[in-house]
Amino acid sequence: MKVERKCKIVSKEQLGDAVYMTLEVGDMVRTSFKAPGQFVHIKCGEGLLLRRPISVCTCQEDERSDLLTIVFEVRGEGTDWLARRPVGHTLDVMGLLGNGFQVKPEGRYLLVGGGIGIPPMLGCAQYAQGKCTAILGGRSKDKIILNDCFEEACAKVLVATDDGSLGHHGFVDALVRRELGEDKGYDAVLACGPRPMLRNVARAAEEFGIPCQVSMEERMGCGIGACLVCVCDMKDGSRKHVCKNGPVFDSKEVNWDA
Ligand SMILES: Cc1cc2nc3c(=O)[nH]c(=O)nc-3n(C[C@H](O)[C@H](O)[C@H](O)COP(=O)(O)OP(=O)(O)OC[C@H]3O[C@@H](n4cnc5c(N)ncnc54)[C@H](O)[C@@H]3O)c2cc1C
Ligand code: FES
Repeated sequence: MKVERKCKIVSKEQLGDAVYMTLEVGDMVRTSFKAPGQFVHIKCGEGLLLRRPISVCTCQEDERSDLLTIVFEVRGEGTDWLARRPVGHTLDVMGLLGNGFQVKPEGRYLLVGGGIGIPPMLGCAQYAQGKCTAILGGRSKDKIILNDCFEEACAKVLVATDDGSLGHHGFVDALVRRELGEDKGYDAVLACGPRPMLRNVARAAEEFGIPCQVSMEERMGCGIGACLVCVCDMKDGSRKHVCKNGPVFDSKEVNWDA
């Protein structure tokens, strides 16, 4: 299977602090889509072979060239380079990588996205055909992105901000507890965001006896299981590669105290 392709940037827009980019990716979706929650590894920079992992937000097959959207924030050199690429520029992209969330189109899920962890949850919402509830969290209201898309793709959308500038004043796990307390019809909780948020969401799901899958963020090197940069400690003492065995894991597998 071909994993490395030249992909053209066909649109780019600013979404608050984040950059929303659409790429033409050839037959990448047709040949390597497994589930929402996979990621691409993009070469960021001309000289150094510097790849950066970015989650797939949404993707679709297309006879001419499959389309994929990514949303990212500038954190350092690599994402800064990427943010400055113009429409029409060709990127070197590996993908689709990783396993993604185990979801069924007929399933009903409680989706939880925190900050830049919000975009990949949109792919889950679209996959599960309108039955999900989304809980979107961020430091303040400008960090809550893609609300309109979630409103369109979900039955219900709830928002939490740390500073109370939009929705619930506080963290997302309070809304997770409230929702799971009021509605027993969810098949699972699916979450992507910073590690402390994932740990708290996992704890809440466990209290209600609901399965929970989390998308883990670790620094990456190769992106395909050939180095040890991305290892994540598991409860059973093993160490798994986030790039190859993840990035999505059953929350009960993860050693949250590592
Ligand atoms: C599977 C996966 C999916 C991701 N999806 C997205 C996404 O959809 N949108 C997005 O904006 N970002 C995403 N990230 C994070 C993104 O890869 C990092 O922000 C990026 O690699 C930073 O590279 P840089 O060269 O700009 O910054 P660097 O100079 O490499 O680092 C800048 C700062 O970010 C920290 N950092 C770098 N990489 C990571 C990482 N992987 N996890 C946590 N902290 C890191 C560094 O410690 C440093 O403090 C994802 C990461 C993973 C592992
Ligand atoms: S990044 Fe090299 S093994 Fe995961």
